[in-house]
Amino acid sequence: PRYPLSLRINGQPYELEVESWVTLLDLLRERLHLTGSKKGCDQGQCGACTVLVDGRRINACLSLALMQQGREVLTIEGLAEGARLHPLQRAFVAHDALQCGYCTPGQICSAVGLMNEGQARCRDDLRELMSGNVCRCGAYPQIVDAVEEVMF
Ligand code: FES
Repeated sequence: PRYPLSLRINGQPYELEVESWVTLLDLLRERLHLTGSKKGCDQGQCGACTVLVDGRRINACLSLALMQQGREVLTIEGLAEGARLHPLQRAFVAHDALQCGYCTPGQICSAVGLMNEGQARCRDDLRELMSGNVCRCGAYPQIVDAVEEVMF
């Protein structure tokens, strides 16, 4: 059976019918074709699926879609304002903070969540608090550079 689900995604209201087993990540990617959020491990280990729910970062692969009833989901597609990129997106470009780019949407959403949390005080904090987002290309120094520039 499907169950009703009302939520907002990137500022847009959605009224959906969803099976209980569908994850937020699969809802975004498979049903709504918002494929910016990536599926790396599907097990909460890589961070490629990171999105913001009511401003807090979560792994969308570990969260059921139906748990997002009434919530505001923000994905990488919703960060830019028209043609104007989010400051973190601009910093990632400026610092060349990616190689293949697969982890980038999750890295950026995670960094937005980190800014919302207000916990990071220094570069080492950034490294620690972004450690849930894996980059297999090893672009970590540039990623930290980009986030550091925007955050401090
Ligand atoms: Fe969700 Fe890897 S796909 S943490």
